[in-house]
Amino acid sequence: MLVTFFTLTFALGSFAGAPSNSTGCLCTYGHPCWPTADQFAELESQVSQPLIYPAPTASACYPANDPSGNCTQVMQRWTDGNWRSSIPGSMDEPNFESFVFKNGTISACYLNTSLGTPCEQGSVPVIGVDARTPQDIQVAINFAVRYNLKLVVKNTGHDYLGRSTGRGAFVVWTHKMKNITYDAEFAPEGAPANETYQAMTVGSGVQWHEAYDVANQNGRMMVGAQDIDGSVGAGGGWLQGGGHSSLSPSYGLGVDNVAQITVVTSTGTHLTVNNYQYPDLFWALRGGGGGTYGIVTSVTYRTYQQLSAVLYFMRANVTNATVMKELIGGMLRLQPNLTDDGWSGYGFLENATLTFIGMNPGMSTAAANASTQPLTDYLFSLESKGTSLEVEINPFDTWYAWYTWFKQFFSTGGEDGTNMMITSRLLSRDTLANQYADVAEILYDCQAGINTVSGGKVSQINPDSAGLNPAWRNAVVETVCGVSWAEGTTAEEIAGKIDQLKVWIKDMYALTPQAGAYFNEASLFEIDWQYTFFGSHYGKLKEIKDKYDPYRLFVVAEGVGSEEWNEELTCRW
Ligand SMILES: Cc1cc2nc3c(=O)[nH]c(=O)nc-3n(C[C@H](O)[C@H](O)[C@H](O)COP(=O)(O)OP(=O)(O)OC[C@H]3O[C@@H](n4cnc5c(N)ncnc54)[C@H](O)[C@@H]3O)c2cc1C
Ligand SMILES: *[C@@H]1O[C@H](CO)[C@@H](O)[C@H](O)[C@H]1NC(C)=O
Ligand SMILES: *[C@@H]1O[C@H](CO)[C@@H](O)[C@H](O)[C@H]1NC(C)=O
Ligand SMILES: *[C@@H]1O[C@H](CO)[C@@H](O)[C@H](O)[C@H]1NC(C)=O
Ligand SMILES: *[C@@H]1O[C@H](CO)[C@@H](O)[C@H](O)[C@H]1NC(C)=O
Ligand SMILES: *[C@@H]1O[C@H](CO)[C@@H](O)[C@H](O)[C@H]1NC(C)=O
Ligand SMILES: *[C@@H]1O[C@H](CO)[C@@H](O)[C@H](O)[C@H]1NC(C)=O
Ligand SMILES: *[C@@H]1O[C@H](CO)[C@@H](O)[C@H](O)[C@H]1NC(C)=O
Ligand SMILES: *[C@@H]1O[C@H](CO)[C@@H](O)[C@H](O)[C@H]1NC(C)=O
Ligand SMILES: *[C@@H]1O[C@H](CO)[C@@H](O)[C@H](O)[C@H]1NC(C)=O
Ligand SMILES: *[C@@H]1O[C@H](CO)[C@@H](O)[C@H](O)[C@H]1NC(C)=O
Ligand SMILES: *[C@@H]1O[C@H](CO)[C@@H](O)[C@H](O)[C@H]1NC(C)=O
Repeated sequence: MLVTFFTLTFALGSFAGAPSNSTGCLCTYGHPCWPTADQFAELESQVSQPLIYPAPTASACYPANDPSGNCTQVMQRWTDGNWRSSIPGSMDEPNFESFVFKNGTISACYLNTSLGTPCEQGSVPVIGVDARTPQDIQVAINFAVRYNLKLVVKNTGHDYLGRSTGRGAFVVWTHKMKNITYDAEFAPEGAPANETYQAMTVGSGVQWHEAYDVANQNGRMMVGAQDIDGSVGAGGGWLQGGGHSSLSPSYGLGVDNVAQITVVTSTGTHLTVNNYQYPDLFWALRGGGGGTYGIVTSVTYRTYQQLSAVLYFMRANVTNATVMKELIGGMLRLQPNLTDDGWSGYGFLENATLTFIGMNPGMSTAAANASTQPLTDYLFSLESKGTSLEVEINPFDTWYAWYTWFKQFFSTGGEDGTNMMITSRLLSRDTLANQYADVAEILYDCQAGINTVSGGKVSQINPDSAGLNPAWRNAVVETVCGVSWAEGTTAEEIAGKIDQLKVWIKDMYALTPQAGAYFNEASLFEIDWQYTFFGSHYGKLKEIKDKYDPYRLFVVAEGVGSEEWNEELTCRW
């Protein structure tokens, strides 16, 4: 299926005159330009599955007095990330299913029917293609270009900027592109004969829990997302935004572990891209952002021999805020050395408790003890200040066994199904050495998540080897601050939450103006987003975007080239 139908030059030469709307606008649902039922029927006859009509997650609970579907199931599984991603209209953060009008009216479909509002479509696309093959995607893209439609690419719907949804849009849903193949001698097309990888190829709808299971069955492990249920997509936005992992300090980021990608561009061409074929597009797809260059149909990743893993578990109860900030700062300061030894870590602040879960693949318990001694010594030095501590080192036979423990540990977490917006910052070695105390003040204030998912191997890789923001190469820690709210919160109250988020963004930016943020874990309100998300690579990414997307079909919020579009991403300036 990995067929290159035309060379790119041919494709560009043949379709140079992109259809365009004289108003410079894309067609959305409800306008006279919207395709007719007959035109959609013709589309349906060309794809492998019936067209889909996405609905908001809670729609089965309406009308409230006579629910049309299985509302019990919706209530039971609301916070289940794998269930949500199996629904074409569902977003992991339900706020991205809603649409806020300028006058403050919110179009949404709440789970809480007692709020008394009707179930509305909000930002959920109205119709689309349930893609199973590259051919389905080619047909869908050609249709969207022909009718000048506002197109959205949706995989799991986990995006924190709502980039996999769009009001009145036509959607290509990649969730069911589920092929997984393990090949111990994978050869990228066009590569020298001696270049092979023990690789796994995932269809773009595969999710990390599925990829990990198959890798494990082959005695392998992979650099992938570390969410609590493995529901993040393995071949979609995660990779294209960068892709951090518990294995990153040892093996690099997602973008550093790809041998080949297949992708359909807006000209309808299915390309196989790697370091030897279309290396510029291969470069951009590794960190230049999802939904921007084409629709990825498969990704081939390197895999690694399954190793043992060792856990460093720390939990501290600290009621004194000054001491808690000291603890956060002190832990930050020690992270560069830990990542250089292969440690990753996830820190969670919840009121007076800081939990930190460190992991190192292939390290013995004794070596783990020695490697973390400076951290352990530091932590116990705070006991005299009223800190109550628990520190443990535990071995696991395999990384997979550790991952299974991790999932169980967080099984009650509210990671999915919550209305929220987040911002992140990539903290450099220099910041951790010199500004750890100032940073800790903000992180305490926002009850931050502290992800030690960079440094180590990530810092050793040439910053220009992938389109990814070069800020990642200096970074050791990614911090995440967020706001959340209950259903029914007014637009004015949500704006207040966003104002709080903006304060943290401004304060972190002021402390670390040279740093960046992680495109996949960020807000719509980052300062100087082009630099913040892509750094010095922005210009080159924009050139590649313009070259491979001559029809300007792929546009997402704060994605490369999106500055040419209005806020709704429907009309060009
Ligand atoms: C609970 C949770 C845990 C997370 N954990 C991690 C983590 O451990 N590490 C990490 O790095 N990130 C993590 N993330 C962030 C994650 O990387 C982003 O949410 C990312 O956007 C998810 O990509 P997706 O394809 O699954 O989701 P989607 O929302 O479906 O897509 C995201 C973006 O990619 C585009 N896209 C999707 N598929 C394709 C495709 N085939 N071709 C082209 N464009 C496509 C979409 O248009 C959209 O712009 C987490 C997110 C959540 C919600
Ligand atoms: C151009 O876009 C506008 C706004 O979406 C729409 O009303 C109009 O019908 C479109 N015209 C064509 C020819 O697509
Ligand atoms: C509704 O969902 C519940 C929980 O998943 C399930 O047990 C039940 O069988 C479902 N009912 C129908 C009619 O699908
Ligand atoms: C707000 O604007 C929307 C869209 O124009 C409209 O449907 C709604 O009635 C307006 N609400 C109020 C309270 O004016
Ligand atoms: C649902 O909304 C009602 C009315 O605002 C409120 O009283 C109730 O607490 C809400 N329920 C939940 C579970 O949030
Ligand atoms: C999935 O894999 C099977 C078996 O290798 C193959 O026949 C099929 O064409 C693949 N489908 C896609 C969409 O790649
Ligand atoms: C493949 O062979 C070339 C030429 O002999 C050599 O330079 C290169 O390092 C080899 N690559 C690998 C991956 O072995
Ligand atoms: C909190 O700790 C700081 C630093 O150790 C100390 O100066 C301060 O008195 C403590 N505050 C309280 C309320 O105990
Ligand atoms: C990191 O390790 C080096 C070499 O062992 C040491 O000199 C340095 O003090 C350590 N840094 C911190 C912050 O502990
Ligand atoms: C943290 O504090 C808030 C507000 O006081 C409370 O609602 C919440 O349950 C607390 N969380 C934990 C884990 O104790
Ligand atoms: C490290 O080893 C020492 C000596 O065996 C032991 O006392 C200590 O508890 C170990 N540290 C951890 C965190 O397990
Ligand atoms: C921290 O507080 C929690 C909740 O009060 C408690 O369960 C836990 O045992 C405490 N941990 C330590 C190390 O004191």
